Amino acid sequence: MLPLNKRQFQVDFTKYPYPDKLRHHVTSHNYFAVEDLKVVPPNYPPIYKSLDWSDIFLNEKKPDRLDIGCGKGIFLLGIAHQNPDKNYLGIEVRDTAVDWINNYINGESVPNCRALFFSVANGIPFIESESIEAIYYLFPDPWPKNRHHKRRAFNFKFLEEIYRVLKSDGKLFLATDLDYVDEYQTKLLIQSKKFNISEVNDEEWNLPITNKESFCIKHDIKTFKKICTKINF
Ligand SMILES: C[S@@+](CC[C@H](N)C(=O)[O-])C[C@H]1O[C@@H](n2cnc3c(N)ncnc32)[C@H](O)[C@@H]1O
Repeated sequence: MLPLNKRQFQVDFTKYPYPDKLRHHVTSHNYFAVEDLKVVPPNYPPIYKSLDWSDIFLNEKKPDRLDIGCGKGIFLLGIAHQNPDKNYLGIEVRDTAVDWINNYINGESVPNCRALFFSVANGIPFIESESIEAIYYLFPDPWPKNRHHKRRAFNFKFLEEIYRVLKSDGKLFLATDLDYVDEYQTKLLIQSKKFNISEVNDEEWNLPITNKESFCIKHDIKTFKKICTKINF
């Protein structure tokens, strides 16, 4: 296993400072599908049914791997840097985080990476079926209160979409620092009957560190990591 400083992608934060106002959560509407809203607020993320990838990635190719809820983007930029032959699409509901990531990508001319301002509560209809090799869903917002559970992106509809877009040998990577989130996600995965689930340790995981994971490491917080594969019928 590489030392921490080698696993974490290094950004020159004097050149690319994070915005001062990068709020933890955005307006609650953004966590709901547009069809479930009575009124769609003006700042709701755009709805895309399809996308022209030549407008999205500097290399004009389609995405191979997705980072859902990419947050402040250190993992997304790090994994794209490690694998220049693969295209990485981050999907994120906080526009300020998306703008920071894309500003870095444009500034450094990163050809194989882009962040998209979008809420996965609306599925991912712009991703072609059976086209994705890996999906990373890392350290999702827990929404611990019962009345907030509907804001969790991880539900049966989400799993249907994950299953649809993954290639037959595609993988879903899950990480959280909360045992009850891990249990909730595992329960849904088992109930869906569409994925095999393997618990993995840090050695087997061996991926760049996310912003949240770096906080967990610093504060010695235990994390739960799983790799899920599609059951092909
Ligand atoms: C705790 S952060 C973790 C970010 C990053 N994956 C990491 O590990 O550092 C969870 C992220 O998921 C995003 N998110 C939550 N619900 C979402 C949704 N419906 N669509 C897209 N992103 C969402 C949040 O805005 C937040 O940036």
